Formats: sequence, C-alpha cells, structure tokens
Amino acid sequence: MISRYDFSLKFNSGAVVKEIPFSTAKVPYFAVKKAEEIQFSLQMSNNCKIYGLGENVRGINKRGHLYISNNTDDPTITEDRVSLYASHNFLIINNVKEMFGLFFDTPNKVKYDLGYSDIDEINISSPLGFELYVIEGKSELDIIKQFRELIGKSYLPPYYSFGVGQSRWGYSCKDDILRIINDYEKLDMPLDLIYMDIDCLDNFKDFTLNETFGNPKQFVDEVKSHNIYLVPIVDAALKVDDSYPVYTEGKKLGHYAFGKDGNPYVVGVWPGDSVLPDFFNEEASKWFASKYQFYLDIGITSFWNDMNEPVLFYTKDRVQSMLNLAADSRGKNLPLTEYHKVLNGFAGLQNNEDDYNYFFHHFNGEVVSHKYLHNYYSYYMVKETSNYLKENSGDEGFLLFSRSSCIGSHRYSGIWTGDNASWWEHLLLNFKMMPSLNMCGYLYSGADLGGFGKNSTEDLVLRWLAFGLFSPLLRNHSSCGTKLQEFCYLKRKDVFRNLLKIRYALMPYIYHSFVSARENNSLLFTPLNFVYKNDENVNEIEDELLFGDSLILAPIFQQNTNKRYVYLPENCMQITMKSDTDISCSKVEKGHHIINVNLDEVTFFLLEGHSIPLTKNAKNINDVKSKEINFINNEDKSLFKEIFVPKGKSFELKKVELK
Ligand code: GLC
Repeated sequence: MISRYDFSLKFNSGAVVKEIPFSTAKVPYFAVKKAEEIQFSLQMSNNCKIYGLGENVRGINKRGHLYISNNTDDPTITEDRVSLYASHNFLIINNVKEMFGLFFDTPNKVKYDLGYSDIDEINISSPLGFELYVIEGKSELDIIKQFRELIGKSYLPPYYSFGVGQSRWGYSCKDDILRIINDYEKLDMPLDLIYMDIDCLDNFKDFTLNETFGNPKQFVDEVKSHNIYLVPIVDAALKVDDSYPVYTEGKKLGHYAFGKDGNPYVVGVWPGDSVLPDFFNEEASKWFASKYQFYLDIGITSFWNDMNEPVLFYTKDRVQSMLNLAADSRGKNLPLTEYHKVLNGFAGLQNNEDDYNYFFHHFNGEVVSHKYLHNYYSYYMVKETSNYLKENSGDEGFLLFSRSSCIGSHRYSGIWTGDNASWWEHLLLNFKMMPSLNMCGYLYSGADLGGFGKNSTEDLVLRWLAFGLFSPLLRNHSSCGTKLQEFCYLKRKDVFRNLLKIRYALMPYIYHSFVSARENNSLLFTPLNFVYKNDENVNEIEDELLFGDSLILAPIFQQNTNKRYVYLPENCMQITMKSDTDISCSKVEKGHHIINVNLDEVTFFLLEGHSIPLTKNAKNINDVKSKEINFINNEDKSLFKEIFVPKGKSFELKKVELK
C-alpha cells in the first residue's frame, strides 16, 4: 500500500507515473518536526537495516552514515562522500517490527542521517518542499515492486548495448579508433562498442566530430563493417562560439539558462566558456534533442550524456570577482585570513553551490531559480533526448546512458556510476551498488571497468572483468594520463579473450534476467537476505548477490588471493568457466565454503532446480542471437521453459525445449 503526503512540493519533478491521492493522516512511524527544515526522526532497533539510495558510497545496508541527495561532480569517491552524481531518494527501513519504504519526490536536497549523528537514530530532512510516499509491504521485494510500479518501467536498451565496450578519455582521432578495432581484431578478442570521448569532438563542441574523421559517414560505415557501434559523448553544456551554429541557434531561440540580466549564464566546462541548455523548458530540451540528428544521419545511434549535474568548473561572474579580489591584494602584506580568502576563493570556483542561486530556467511557464530544480536537470535532458531517439533512431533502437540521474530518468536512459578509481575497493563498491541502483529503477548500469582514475593493474582488470561479465553495461573506461588498461594491451591476452567470450555465452541468461527484472519490477542483483528470510547466515552478507532468479555470484574482491569464503543458502551447482566452451560443474552443498577462483576463470552457483541457458562460439554480440541455446541444469526441473529473447528493438518470450 502506498500513501502520499504533501509537504509543499513547489515543482512537480516528473518522477512518478501513478496518481495517488494525498493522505490527510499523520505520517506513520516518524516524529515529524516542522522547523526551518522538515525533519523526520525515528529510533532504530539494534537490528534495523536500511536499503536503497541508489548511487552512493558504502554498503548495501546504508545504516551508519550520512547521505545527501545533491547531484555533484566530485571524482574523489571515498567512503566519506555524502553525495555522488545522482539523487535516488528511495529507501527501505527494516526496523524489525516494522518495515516500509520511503520515497522523497523532490528536485531539492534531502539529507539522510542514518545513525551518523546519533548511532540509534534516523533523521531525514529537506529544506524545501517535497512529496513523501510511504510504501508498506510484506517484504523488501514487495516494497520495491510497488515503488517501481509507482515510478514506471525501466529503460530498455538495445540488445547490442550488452556487448563489450572499450573507452578511454584520450582517443582523439580516426586513427585512434581504427587502431583499437585492429588491435582487438588481430587478437580475435570480442569488441562491440567503442566510445568517443571529448577529444573526438571539434574543440569539445557537442554534435561534431573533429576534422581527422574526414567524411564522418564514410568513417562510421567503415567502423560498422567491423560490426562495431560508435558511442560519442554528449555533454550538457555548449561552447560559447559565434561560429558554432548549435550555439548561435540556441541563443537566438533563448534556449539557455539565464542570469538575472536575462542573458545566457556563462559557466566553464571542457570548452571553456559554455552555456547550459534550459532543459526544464520543454521547447529547449526538444530543440537540444533534435541536434542528435547530426549523429543519426551518419548512422550513430548510441550516446553517453556527461557533465549534466550540471558541472560548473567556474561561473564567469565568480571568476571575475575572484580576479578582482586578487588584483586588490596585489603588493599587499596580507594577514593569513585575507590570504586564505584569496586561496580558498579560487579553490571554491568549481561547482560552487552558491552559483545555483544566480541562474534561472523556464519551467511550466514560470521563471525558476536553478537551486529549486537542481537534481532534475539531467532528467529533462535525457527525457527529451530519449523521446527523440525513440522516434528517429531506426530498427535497432538506441543506447543512451547518463552520468547524472534521479528517479524518473530510469525510464529514459541507463547510467554509469561516474569517475571511480582503479582501486580494489571500487570493484567491491561497484558490486554493492548494483542492487541499490536496481531498487531505484536503474537496471542498465555499470561502473568504469578497471577503474577510471589512477593506474590499474592487470590482476584488478581481470577480477573486475570476472564481475563485469554480469554487468548490463560492460565498459572498460579510463582517464587520460593513466596506464593503458584496454584488454587488448594487457599481457594475458588469451585469458582476456576467453573471459570476454563468456559474456556472449551468458547473454541468453543475462538478457532474459534483465528483461524479467524490467517486466516484473524486480531486481537483477538481489541481496541474499531479501530472499532467504529464514536463514540467519545470510543476514549480513554483502559480497554475494543473487543474479537473476537462478545464480549466486561471489567474485574475488582482493588482490593476491584466489580464495574466498562463500555461504550458500541452498544446495547449488558450482559452474566454473574458463571460456565459452571450457566449463566445469560440481555439486556444492548448502553451507560454508572456501572456494578457489583463479585469475583466468569465472565461477558462480546455480540453484537447485534451476537451469542456465548458454551459447557458444558467438563472434560478436549480434551473433549470439543466431546461436543455439543449450542449458546446464541443476536437476531437471527447470524454470526456463520460456525465455525472453531479443526481437527487433524489443523482446519476445520464446518457448525453448530443454535437452
Ligand atoms: C568526465 C567523465 C569521464 C570522461 C571525462 C572526459 O570526467 O565522467 O567519463 O572521460 O569527463 O569527457
């Protein structure tokens, strides 16, 4: 049951798809205080557990930390971070005697103090208006299902987007892209998508390719002849440049966020001075979306949206006032407090929240300050982009995923989880974040495999791939200036080739499970304790997950070990794959185990009475579709009498015979 409470949300966010009448009753479970902020507080029992909040640091159980919904570009993702790139305001509180879900529907900040200031207390507050949904149900999965029905079905990406993706910030010309294709091909290593980061653009201008690409259509055709899809980046901000037609057209149409003087508000992003499309204005976001036609015309249908929190490396006004302050200080003997004003002032130019007060949008016929709408900026970007691509991208559908997100945009695009680092702990964070993202509607998601920032090591990439093989978005991406981590440039080429082929082998199961999770509003990655309710052993397990209905995943997250502890809540079959054809199976009993997983293999557990469909010898992601499906059965009672398979840009349920 869902109840909706009115706390003066000023602007409808667009998050929900069902109209629920407001309740006039008191909000249950919480003591509610209306001071400067509206505050909800609740005493936690010793065993209280909290789930949800989508993209955030720390564990699956969110108890014991502070989280603030405030879409932020901060690439230092350490455990003390309170805000990442997204605001996913859904959480489940299991306070032993009572369990319920909460959704704070708002584009504004929400602060979740979950036993951080007071170890026994939850305090949730928001400074501006919101609507609160309280969802009551018989289990976590029931609450999630109701919530997901409330917010609408998740984005369905095209089949090819489950292929293997290679990316790197630094590929900058036609030859870079062709070289990658060639280097993968000569090793017979799977590759389906290549990402084109900002250096592939003409001076960081959206909807362009730089001159090295010559005739872009010819280039795209050449890449396609290798069965590779190109995925250019589209940043939110547009370069201020009078010779850039997209910029001048948008300016003429008044489609940019504007300052107090009514002029386009100038901020700094990769091209330097830039303007922010006024995505809250439907006409402006539709106009921006229509610019994707440049890529559609040359045969590109896949995109990643970046810098859409939005990032403000600086605002022109603040730079000016800092330059003035510095000029005033010239030649003076500054007391340290004054000196720090200058120093911190320059350091505070980037993503200064105060700047949200100084620019405005057109929203539903009103002029609204960015500060009231911040967390939904990217929502309106991906919404209209997605609508446009749906209409215009042709037979295969389109791929769209974004860095910034909120609840609602899960209907229009996927996400990646931003600028992680090549740290073992970020592999574990990737794993733990997946169920939380799924709870909030994000099914097509993934992290930068191998780590974005810092130098990766080959064993980390191998272990990350062993988990990444199950991630709907499988993309090896790294920052400029870091050590090469492309699968084709690492030493154990045979191992990488074999592991990548396992992705194709698993695709029937991955795709079926993905579509089932979407259609049933359930999770693709499920914590064990959501399912095995009567087994105390699973209560705190956060390094194993159910994947789909039939598998348990338990990857290795540490360097220099092939061993790990696994608890199995039921009898399973352990399946170990070294390639798409080298597969061994053995029965493992319910209970505690130490398993051994070498760097050149992937292992997982098939539940009793279940089957997993597999293919072999596929050459690329589309080739999987034509391959025969075989099953490994753990006992002969199988759930897989019908599986979801791709059909055109959508899917169908296909009856399969078990052999
Ligand atoms: C941002 C993105 C990253 C991208 C870089 C350059 O940091 O998060 O993925 O490579 O910008 O475009």
